[in-house]
Amino acid sequence: MALPSYEEHRAAARRRLPHMLFEYIDSGAFDERTLAANRDGFGDFRLKQRVMRDMSDLDMSAELAGAPAAMPIALGPVGFAGMYARRGEVQATRAAVAEGVPFCLSAVSVCGYDEVRRGGGIAPWFQLYMIRDRAYMRDLIDSVLAAGAETLVFTVDMPLPGIRHRDARSGLYDAGSRGLARQIWQGIARPGWLWDVYLRGRPHSFGNFAAAMTGRAGLGDYWGWIRENFDCSTNWDDLAWIRARWPGRILIKGVLCPEDAAAAFDAGADGVVVSNHGGRQLDGVSSSIEALPAIVDAVGGRGTVLVDGGVRSGLDILKALALGADGCLLGRAWAFALAAGGERGVVAMLQALKVELRVAMTLTGCGTLRQAGRTLLDGRFTSS
Ligand SMILES: Cc1cc2nc3c(=O)[nH]c(=O)nc-3n(C[C@H](O)[C@H](O)[C@H](O)COP(=O)(O)O)c2cc1C
Repeated sequence: MALPSYEEHRAAARRRLPHMLFEYIDSGAFDERTLAANRDGFGDFRLKQRVMRDMSDLDMSAELAGAPAAMPIALGPVGFAGMYARRGEVQATRAAVAEGVPFCLSAVSVCGYDEVRRGGGIAPWFQLYMIRDRAYMRDLIDSVLAAGAETLVFTVDMPLPGIRHRDARSGLYDAGSRGLARQIWQGIARPGWLWDVYLRGRPHSFGNFAAAMTGRAGLGDYWGWIRENFDCSTNWDDLAWIRARWPGRILIKGVLCPEDAAAAFDAGADGVVVSNHGGRQLDGVSSSIEALPAIVDAVGGRGTVLVDGGVRSGLDILKALALGADGCLLGRAWAFALAAGGERGVVAMLQALKVELRVAMTLTGCGTLRQAGRTLLDGRFTSS
């Protein structure tokens, strides 16, 4: 049976989703150079083929932020997933549970934390954005904690939204009647989505921030709210403030240089996610995989190092581990699989990654991921 590829899920999502939602997932910031670099970066490293080593007994298990996982990957935070499939965050959580990997709920999810916990059967990781209203932040953190969350992913590379030209062109930012008209027009062109997600998948509020968004409705208004409420003043003192409230693990997502990784640990983080937000924020910065080795060296074993950006196959996962990551987060890969096939689509995507990872491990002579290191790479292609 053919394994579903990233491109197949992407193409199916394109056929299924209204234009502005497909563009929202697919696009990057400015000229999309970093978006492309995230993919190309993996090509700069070569795996080293090894043969004649008994590889009949592979151990693909991993520990991600202190939690056991069947593979070294987690479904990373992706906003609006409840617009890609009916109650999409719940479906994706079920898929993650079925395949034994963690799920991280975005702060800007359609389904709120409680719904996902009840529907998915686990207390997922929770991703946080900092908004100006600190009383709201405090209540949100406390409520997620009370619901059983243990791992908090604090995303720090979005103090303001990046400039994404494709979103502006697709109509995503249009508020009011013009925005509504474009949404309706694009929705009508996708009757399957209209029926399944738009009509049967309601309510379409922003589960975790709904109470802070009073008086706002619709996607266009949401972007206005982000511009007004995301907090550019956020700094490491805010992490100390969160640290004082959050007894569990905290991962800082959006770190791209060694100095910031060290600062994150100094301020009390348990780990970092090396990330440029999938090329959606500051275009022209280095790819995540390129930034990874220096950050691993700077962290020096003080805690977890995850990486995301352009991870599309099991080969990418093994390269990331060879360069020192403890695991990878997936973004667009699961968003497109969800849009293409709901829970089953995400399960199929995860199973394909597992098969690919098995091939990669077998042919590099890597029996257990816990021993993965730079020796898995061809020396000519390891710059550091
Ligand atoms: C559609 C979409 C929505 C996203 N929403 C969030 C979010 O709510 N919070 C967050 O921390 N990162 C968000 N991200 C960034 C992802 O967590 C991740 O860093 C990025 O997608 C990785 O790159 P990849 O998609 O190429 O794998 C989003 C990414 C996409 C594509």
